[in-house]
Amino acid sequence: MPSQSFMFPELFKSILIRNIEIRNRIVSTGHDTTIPTDGTVNDALIAYHKARAKGGVGLIVAQVTGVHESARYTNHVLMGTDDDCIQGFRKLAETVQKEGAKLFVQLFHPGREMTESLDGTAPIAWAPSVSPSERFHVIPRAITEEMIQEILDGYGKVAKRLEKAGVDGVEIVASHGYLPAQFLNPTVNRREDKWGGSEENRIRFLREAIGKARAATSSKFIVGLRISGDEQYEDGFSKSGTLDTIKHVSSDIDYVSLVDGTSATLGGSVHIVPPMYYEPGYVAPFSARLKEIIDIPVIVTGRINQPHEAEKILKNNAADMCGMTRAMICDPLMPVKAKNGNFDEIRACIGCNQACIGHFHKGHAISCIQYPETGRELEFTNKPKVQKPLKVVVVGGGPGGMKAASVASDRGHQVSLYEADSQLGGQARLAQLLPNRSEFGGIITNLSRELETSGAKINTGVSLNAAKIKQLKPDVVILATGAKPLWPENLSNDGEGQVCDAWQVLKGEVNVGSSVLIHDWKGDWIGMGVAEHLAQNGCKVRLAVNGLFAGESLQSYVRDSNAARLHDLGVKIIPYVRLYGRDEDSVYLQHTVHGAAIIEEEVDTLVLAQGHTPENRLEAELHDDIEKVICIGDCQMPRTCEEAVLEGLRAAYNLA
Ligand SMILES: Cc1cc2nc3c(=O)[nH]c(=O)nc-3n(C[C@H](O)[C@H](O)[C@H](O)COP(=O)(O)OP(=O)(O)OC[C@H]3O[C@@H](n4cnc5c(N)ncnc54)[C@H](O)[C@@H]3O)c2cc1C
Ligand SMILES: Cc1cc2nc3c(=O)[nH]c(=O)nc-3n(C[C@H](O)[C@H](O)[C@H](O)COP(=O)(O)O)c2cc1C
Ligand code: SF4
Repeated sequence: MPSQSFMFPELFKSILIRNIEIRNRIVSTGHDTTIPTDGTVNDALIAYHKARAKGGVGLIVAQVTGVHESARYTNHVLMGTDDDCIQGFRKLAETVQKEGAKLFVQLFHPGREMTESLDGTAPIAWAPSVSPSERFHVIPRAITEEMIQEILDGYGKVAKRLEKAGVDGVEIVASHGYLPAQFLNPTVNRREDKWGGSEENRIRFLREAIGKARAATSSKFIVGLRISGDEQYEDGFSKSGTLDTIKHVSSDIDYVSLVDGTSATLGGSVHIVPPMYYEPGYVAPFSARLKEIIDIPVIVTGRINQPHEAEKILKNNAADMCGMTRAMICDPLMPVKAKNGNFDEIRACIGCNQACIGHFHKGHAISCIQYPETGRELEFTNKPKVQKPLKVVVVGGGPGGMKAASVASDRGHQVSLYEADSQLGGQARLAQLLPNRSEFGGIITNLSRELETSGAKINTGVSLNAAKIKQLKPDVVILATGAKPLWPENLSNDGEGQVCDAWQVLKGEVNVGSSVLIHDWKGDWIGMGVAEHLAQNGCKVRLAVNGLFAGESLQSYVRDSNAARLHDLGVKIIPYVRLYGRDEDSVYLQHTVHGAAIIEEEVDTLVLAQGHTPENRLEAELHDDIEKVICIGDCQMPRTCEEAVLEGLRAAYNLA
């Protein structure tokens, strides 16, 4: 095993941000965790960051913190507008610093990017001009001089409170199309007063915000800047504008944190948390350009999910530090594992966006589908090993079964896992076959490795029935037998036209012909993915969806990226339909609202993506003979890997 310094010499060099020494180059960049419930730091948020600080991260930048009452863009955003916030931030700073990391906090105003209010009414959104924001369909109010001054004062007041709390610094959020970025962008800021027009005027708001934070704090307090290099839409603030802006303010700030994207459009927002379709470190070529013109540290972020990716960026002098945010949502111990040379043990983030930003968008505490302990640090503490090991049989080696078996074995139980297939992974093996989703297979790699290192006995190619299970005389059976495709019982079909399900297409079991209609009832990855796969292979594809639009249940950045690709491939999307029938030539659909018939002709194959039906026969068969049978994941009710892994964790964690 090579030494740690040989593997990642740049990553584990300390760095000075002005006067503050940071132990390595790994940054958990600002991310709204939705863990706080009343706008202040709570114990759950402290436990969340403590886990990362303990795991060896160098710098934690805590999530966006409102500088003014009008900055409440969600119900759960942290606020810094009252002295009451100091106590929580103090506890957070002390905790993080005790573990050897440093803590900065983001100073935030969303401007026109308002999504909700405390009482469900539409809040007033302030922006430099009445420039509509396309993504949330907000037509903002032009900000008044008085309001500008109030908000600018807020930057100073909140920075002062944070310094009082013992935080090491603040980061002004001028990224992602939020208020300072709205002032910078001439297509959003159409003012004719001293805040708009010339470049100097458009930078004024940012410059004064920085000035207020500086003036309110001591000379040792850090003031940094987060900015989007490229907002990634036609009217977005461009790379050249960003370089000029940073050049203008670089003598007033201590570091720059570079990202891409904007909240203002669907295409731009994908870059806020780029899904697996983006290359690791794809913003680094621009940070390399930025480094040529400034001499303060540059942090670059965007899909840097593994230490070797970060090492490469640092070695090429493309940045001074690397944001590795989801990498640490997924594996809080990533830095310490990399440092100790235990590289193979790192659970790499797969960019699925499901439980991290996906939860944020639904207003729930963030987590990770591969590591549901994240965001639940107070629930899943390090439990001591069990005194009396139980004989545990896990049936099924999909994500749920693998997690259950590894956690139960780690806790000291005597665990055997049985998988009917020759390989572990369950449905995740099919999920990785969808176009542009091969990285999803990382969940299998990660969970299988955890299973192997746990010491659980793994038996592949063994299908268990009730009799065999009883012969094994287990104390506990964990059923993780998953699900199979659901075929609608009432489908009217004269038997002449070909019908198959999405699994058969992915396994290459059917010749679908040249014209296909996919009926997608679930609105998840499968319908869109099979549509893309078949269209790529030259099929004429119609995607008939039961929902309002394709991918209705997907995290928006994933859905929007998929939708753009389907559009490019010429896939026709038919929304608001349920499947009614099939004959030799046609598929019969029904509008889900008014019930009108919709007939789609010349269909060679109807592909069903109707969701799944649970494989749960064993539960009833074992009920009377085995004292404890626990059903987890899809065999309980078909859902996603997230629930399967979480239920596997809960079942095993609570076994006594
Ligand atoms: C194409 C596709 C794409 C998907 N994409 C995503 C995605 O992007 N994100 C996401 O979160 N979810 C996705 N899902 C859903 C996700 O894969 C499932 O929800 C998840 O795998 C369920 O995990 P599980 O462990 O409960 O069951 P499964 O993954 O179904 O695993 C059950 C295992 O049990 C085995 N088994 C069954 N009976 C026995 C027996 N009697 N003895 C021994 N072994 C047995 C099976 O062979 C199987 O390997 C996708 C599903 C499909 C089909
Ligand atoms: C759940 C979540 C919330 C986020 N909230 C913020 C935020 O409050 N402020 C911010 O500047 N960026 C936010 N981001 C973006 C991250 O800071 C980071 O730029 C992004 O996750 C890409 O980096 P990664 O690929 O290392 O995860 C958020 C990201 C996630 C996953
Ligand atoms: S949920 Fe997916 S994207 Fe988010 S941290 Fe986990 S693996 Fe990464």
